[in-house]
Amino acid sequence: MPSTLRDRLRHEFDHALATIFARPPVAPPAERGLDAAAKARVARLVRVDDAGEVAAQALYRGQAFFARRPELAAGLHESGAEEEAHLLGCRSRLAALGARPSLLGPVWYAGGWLSGAFFALLGDRTSLGYLEETERRVVRHLEDHLRQLPAEDVATRTLLERMRAEEEGHAHRAHAAGARALPAPLGTLMGMAARVMTTLAARL
Ligand SMILES: [Fe+2]
Ligand SMILES: [Fe+2]
Repeated sequence: MPSTLRDRLRHEFDHALATIFARPPVAPPAERGLDAAAKARVARLVRVDDAGEVAAQALYRGQAFFARRPELAAGLHESGAEEEAHLLGCRSRLAALGARPSLLGPVWYAGGWLSGAFFALLGDRTSLGYLEETERRVVRHLEDHLRQLPAEDVATRTLLERMRAEEEGHAHRAHAAGARALPAPLGTLMGMAARVMTTLAARL
């Protein structure tokens, strides 16, 4: 376990690079069941989800970095590990679709980390409130993407359904750990940030 601030920051930097440039452990076979237009459409959706997973991992790290209670930091790292599986699932699906992740990975990571750190500095319960609200928004967002998927795309559906179930679990965990509800204007702000992210990540 790294101890000095410098070690901890270096550890965070390594984690950021490993996340942004993560690759699937095995190269998936190319998708053959969808036509080119459907593949491009699904790739746009998965690229957004992938960007969200980069931000989610960063958010957990930023929160854990400044968490006051050590058991909270441990719980955050646990959920963060599930986000890692989500990210690799998205990377694998993108590769199968012949697409690349968003080029703005460093931006998504920095945004996630700094927002997680900001809320962590406001205290553990507010930090958990931010996490719960984020996960609930991700669940609604994934449900929207599930509705947009072509019926024949079972692989993407399976991945997004699993992510949806686990994000719901993360929201419950944050709630059970004592999350404090965020003031309404913050929800509006989060919605705006999410719209910018989904628009940009679909294209870039
Ligand atoms: Fe996730
Ligand atoms: Fe999550």
